[in-house]
Amino acid sequence: MAKTTGIQFDKEHNVFNLQTPGTSYVIGIYDGKIPMHVHYGKKLNSTYGIFDMLDRKEGQLFDYMPMSMEYSKPFAHNEHPQELPVYGDGDYRTPAFHAQYADGSTITKLLYAGHKIYDGKPALQDMPSAYVESDEEAQTLEIYLEDELSGLQAVLCYTAYRDRDVITRSNRYINKSDKLIKLLRVDSGCIDLPHMNFDFVHFYGNWAKERMVERTPLFRGLQSVDSTRGASSHFQNPFICLAAHDATEEVGDVYGMNLVYSGNFHAGAFVDSMEKVRMFTGINPFDFQWMLNPGETFQTPECVMVYSDEGFGKMSHIYHEFIKERICRGRFRDQERPILINNWEATYFDFDEDKIAAIAEKAAQVGVELMVLDDGWFGKRNNDRTSLGDWFVNEEKLPKGLNSLVKRVNDLGMKFGLWFEPEMISTVSELYKAHPDWCLHVEGRVRTEGRYQLVLDLSREDVCEYIIETLSKVLSSANIEYIKWDMNRSMTEIGSAFWSAEHQREVAHRYMIGLYKVLGTLKERFPHILMEGCAGGGGRFDLGMFCYFDQFWTSDDTDAVERQFIQTGTSYGYPTMVMGSHVSACPNHQTSRITDINTRGYVAMAGQFGYELDLNTLSEEEIEKVREQIKLCKELAPVFHKGDMHRIKSPFDGNMTVWEFVSKDQKIAIVEIFIIKCAPWNPYQSLKLRGLDPDAVYVDRNTGKSYTGEALMYMGLQRRCDRDFGYEMLILEKQ
Ligand code: DGJ
Repeated sequence: MAKTTGIQFDKEHNVFNLQTPGTSYVIGIYDGKIPMHVHYGKKLNSTYGIFDMLDRKEGQLFDYMPMSMEYSKPFAHNEHPQELPVYGDGDYRTPAFHAQYADGSTITKLLYAGHKIYDGKPALQDMPSAYVESDEEAQTLEIYLEDELSGLQAVLCYTAYRDRDVITRSNRYINKSDKLIKLLRVDSGCIDLPHMNFDFVHFYGNWAKERMVERTPLFRGLQSVDSTRGASSHFQNPFICLAAHDATEEVGDVYGMNLVYSGNFHAGAFVDSMEKVRMFTGINPFDFQWMLNPGETFQTPECVMVYSDEGFGKMSHIYHEFIKERICRGRFRDQERPILINNWEATYFDFDEDKIAAIAEKAAQVGVELMVLDDGWFGKRNNDRTSLGDWFVNEEKLPKGLNSLVKRVNDLGMKFGLWFEPEMISTVSELYKAHPDWCLHVEGRVRTEGRYQLVLDLSREDVCEYIIETLSKVLSSANIEYIKWDMNRSMTEIGSAFWSAEHQREVAHRYMIGLYKVLGTLKERFPHILMEGCAGGGGRFDLGMFCYFDQFWTSDDTDAVERQFIQTGTSYGYPTMVMGSHVSACPNHQTSRITDINTRGYVAMAGQFGYELDLNTLSEEEIEKVREQIKLCKELAPVFHKGDMHRIKSPFDGNMTVWEFVSKDQKIAIVEIFIIKCAPWNPYQSLKLRGLDPDAVYVDRNTGKSYTGEALMYMGLQRRCDRDFGYEMLILEKQ
């Protein structure tokens, strides 16, 4: 059988086979009408006989199931895997779509009305999405469904990449009637799997504790994660997996689903009474309602799906490549980023031009390339109680203006970067005096503050325009080559003075549309500016953000041990290329833990490297190490960022963290070993490496010892692990 990729359509049986190199996503149109989810998993080269395998009508249970009788055979929706499950037809699993029509009813019946297959991948209206660089790279299938009674049209849109095991999906809804339709639930992705022998894996957290791994066996009923905070949040990430109970880093079925969205989401799995599973993701339907007027279209965010038959490792590699190459975009996508120093933990709000210049001078001497001025440079911002929105220079701290400092930094041969928190407004600010109605709020209700600030109402065009123009002015006023875009609070009282009563439940989503527009415009206007996202650390670390930001501050917790957990958890779904990671002062400001400067350096190198302290406070010996770190990082960054990352030991599973990075040509492997809890009772442990050339000999750069690739992988490196916080970085070079 010919091995194909792209989208095959079996016209005789109405079956679509969306093929990537190793996976198939199969949709069948039952009876020429009902879109059924037939298969997602290992590749099927042919869909021959597929429908016969799903023919279900025998068994006493069917007597007790609601059946649609209008098809060639009675059809029990609850029993069959569905492509766009709706409410009201006897499918009692969690639906992917729910709406209310002009007659007050909430029942939908969307039946096949045609399809289109074409090369390439379209951009989405209002929403960021993955892309292709040429139309040959992928094929897209649009399936058109129509609800005759209500006049609603649904377009299910799938893209199969030809050289990556990735399927993307989104849906759009078009009101073809002359009456209002209220959308209540509009999931982006939904797959029905035939059994419940999976674990639900998700990434929970908090401030300073982002993306911790939680893995629990599926139970009957609904298990889900979500956000109602207006951002994807620290607390639960939109990335979820279903993994076979025995799936490890190297073996077993794993399904990944992630959403290209940064606002309120939900994602989960529903196990029904027949132990079948529905995995889903989309905008959180809680407090969501969209008024779809006649002629209007609603576009859902996009969902990115990966299936791996070789465990979490392969799934992560597929996501990493995809995010680096088809989510991230712009000038910096393939470039190594400058090594930066950020003054936040060095000075907090207490700085002036000379203090920042002194930090920059020392940093320049050791090879740091970019000086980032963090919070506190604007308005009257001497603490976190004031001035957000007043994006003009704080003349007390910078009496000679921004340009004077930028020039001093540039004269040192360094680039200059600046912090903003553009989506916020302090109640004590010029902006709030002028526009008290520009924040999210509900008239007559107290405005709940977070870090003494309110959230600007980005569902309003005038507010978005204000942000674009104000930032543009600052960014054009000096040689600014990097911005850190922060966002430090969850939303409350999500309401808008601009929108009428019936549109209030759209505000959270309209905010995201506004935010994406602002980010897109600024990225277009200032393509030379490297953009790092931040949200009180890593509180908006999602695929929506990576369509605009080149990198994202992973966490405010800069402790090297805590970071091993945070960066390991994050690595399941996101590449090191996008994880901002810095060496900070000792004892650590968040945990008071004392760690060696090299432990901090090696952990930070497995991300986008930088410093978050005043290097003037370090000893000569430490400064020497910093110099070496920078040299090493410049040399090895391509391996850390463009190579394959292997989680050899996870801190979530034992007493140590071992990350291995292998260059694509297998010529160099970096192995980072960190002991979190010593094991004097088991002083040597075996670390089986991965991804090496088994037939090659690798030489350890530090000791000169050489090992074969096969021994390193199949027998394993023997390493000491009887010292608390011991660390090691091995550089293995192919001979
Ligand atoms: C939160 C960020 O995560 C920090 O890095 C820092 O920029 C502060 N905000 C500044 O207020």
